[in-house]
Amino acid sequence: MKNIENRGLVFNGQPTPVPYFTFAVTGICNYKCSYCCIGAENHGFRGEEIPLNEMLEIAQIFYQKGVKIFRITGGEPTIWKPLEELIQGIHAIASDTHVNLNSNASLPKKLIPILERNSERFTLRVSVDRMTPALDTPKTWTPRLSETLKEARKYVPVRLNMVVMRSNMNELPQLIDVCNENDFDLKLLDLYYNRDFFGEDGKTMVDINEFWWKQFVPILDTLTDVMENKGFSFINQYDHGSFGIPLPIFTNGNIYISVKDSTRGTHFHKDCIGCSEYRCQEGLYSPMLSSTGTLHVGECRYKPYMTEMRGLPHESKEKAIDRMLTLFKETELSQSKLSEILEVYLSESAVQKGLAPESVSPFRRSYKSAHV
Ligand SMILES: C[S@@+](CC[C@H](N)C(=O)[O-])C[C@H]1O[C@@H](n2cnc3c(N)ncnc32)[C@H](O)[C@@H]1O
Ligand code: SF4
Ligand code: SF4
Repeated sequence: MKNIENRGLVFNGQPTPVPYFTFAVTGICNYKCSYCCIGAENHGFRGEEIPLNEMLEIAQIFYQKGVKIFRITGGEPTIWKPLEELIQGIHAIASDTHVNLNSNASLPKKLIPILERNSERFTLRVSVDRMTPALDTPKTWTPRLSETLKEARKYVPVRLNMVVMRSNMNELPQLIDVCNENDFDLKLLDLYYNRDFFGEDGKTMVDINEFWWKQFVPILDTLTDVMENKGFSFINQYDHGSFGIPLPIFTNGNIYISVKDSTRGTHFHKDCIGCSEYRCQEGLYSPMLSSTGTLHVGECRYKPYMTEMRGLPHESKEKAIDRMLTLFKETELSQSKLSEILEVYLSESAVQKGLAPESVSPFRRSYKSAHV
């Protein structure tokens, strides 16, 4: 059985204030998945990039505060030129740093040599949403992707990420077989509500809301049986020390499946109450640095939680990081009412019910005042 010790708020026996710190290194991507949006996890951050030396200075400060895992995402990070320098810079901070790279693995000529040269303390996370080609995502288990990931697995542990939607949920058993055959772990993500999904071609805001309602699947209620039928059981442990949305871990003794199901609630800070998105779907799950050098909370765009780090003196950067870590320390888990709400609405689209688009998302205040 693989070691799962380093998944929580302890890393190699040492306490860590947050499970990981994230760099969103670019908003550019060569794909256009229906559920994503311009900029992806770097959404809304355009302009001059923060230089690599400042990114590493920030990583160093987080390391000194006890954070050992550094996640790199985008957009598509393999498009970003200094990717390997960032990875090597993180590894050079100390001998116990770890890099998790999120990628669509579409550029094997760039990706595989990076894995080969930096195979220690590294995990690759690749999105695969479908076993058979379909219009809604380019991220399909094709012979080419299979070849790339088999090659990748020679060098580093690999985890697949699947965004579970109505349109692909019946392909989960096959994807689990792929994981078993190739020794890949798996993460199932429920559909995060974006204001501006790419959606299917030329969608309007109404259609976009309808897209979420049509496609959202409460994973634990819907697919736990599927995992159990494949020999997986819940081991009473959660990924990431339960920050953000608690991620229950299932295993068959060989590989792990972690499940991100926002119907089970997430972590908020008391100051979130002043935010127009309260309660958002993600809550506080990881401190993140945008490509332009804004330190912020994961998917959160709440200005009071942001600091522009580019060009700041070292002590000011450190103070901003201390503030960020305090914010995380003070968060608490709120169980949302989402499950109840979904029971009523999943059978029928909210648009068909005649609701105004802005009231459709259950994660918005307007929805709460109208329905909770
Ligand atoms: C934004 S991508 C960036 C890295 C890389 N381009 C990739 O696709 O893996 C990181 C992860 O976010 C997931 N993601 C994007 N939009 C999402 C959404 N609306 N809901 C849930 N997951 C989403 C992707 O499937 C992917 O696993
Ligand atoms: S999910 Fe990843 S691959 Fe798909 S469009 Fe977004 S950034 Fe690109
Ligand atoms: S968007 Fe940010 S501030 Fe607003 S509720 Fe979510 S985590 Fe809190």
